[in-house]
Amino acid sequence: MAEVYWHSYKVTKEDRQKIKGHKSAVVWFTGLSGSGKSTLANELEYILNSLGVHTFLLDGDNIRHGLNADLGFSPKDREENIRRISEVAKLFVEAGIVVIVAFISPYRKDRNRARSLVAQDEFIEVFVKCPLEVAEKRDTKGLYKKARAGIIKDFTGISAPYEEPINPEIVIETDKLSIKESVSTIFDYLIKKNIIKKT
Ligand code: ADX
Repeated sequence: MAEVYWHSYKVTKEDRQKIKGHKSAVVWFTGLSGSGKSTLANELEYILNSLGVHTFLLDGDNIRHGLNADLGFSPKDREENIRRISEVAKLFVEAGIVVIVAFISPYRKDRNRARSLVAQDEFIEVFVKCPLEVAEKRDTKGLYKKARAGIIKDFTGISAPYEEPINPEIVIETDKLSIKESVSTIFDYLIKKNIIKKT
């Protein structure tokens, strides 16, 4: 934007991280509705918080009640949904926080854009892999039933696409692993990558 100028902040991301005692990163959960994203995101935040890690959780269903309440599920609206939340996630990284994002985020291009906004080691894509049949069978919110009946249009996996990640940092198969095993895998990764410290 030609008439808007960028100001440099005196306090840097590193300064903010330093007083928190850990690095910041985006842990980005992607997967079908009912795959287990919100459950895993919640459990991960709970464990990190109990260990003194500064976190925040951005969940699609919740953000769509506020910041993104004006958006629906057309391809264009989903793109805008992910664009906004990618920018918000970047701000949290600047703030020195481990931000956990749980959105279907069905398009590869949009997830890659989110990745491009932060440093290479600051983006951890977690593919919550679950066969459609399993997610549909769980149908925790009764939405698959409505989608099959045509009551909900453009439903991911039924009448709208989901593009699987090609090279995610972590794959969690929620039909094979327990919640505890799944969260441990992600937690161990954060330690291995020196984002948080072993206590
Ligand atoms: S995204 O595709 O734009 O990333 P987001 O994660 O924000 O989706 O929201 C998904 C949630 O919205 C689902 O968990 C579900 O509860 C609800 N939902 C309502 N309509 C749809 C739809 N057509 N497709 C997928 N999810 C839907």
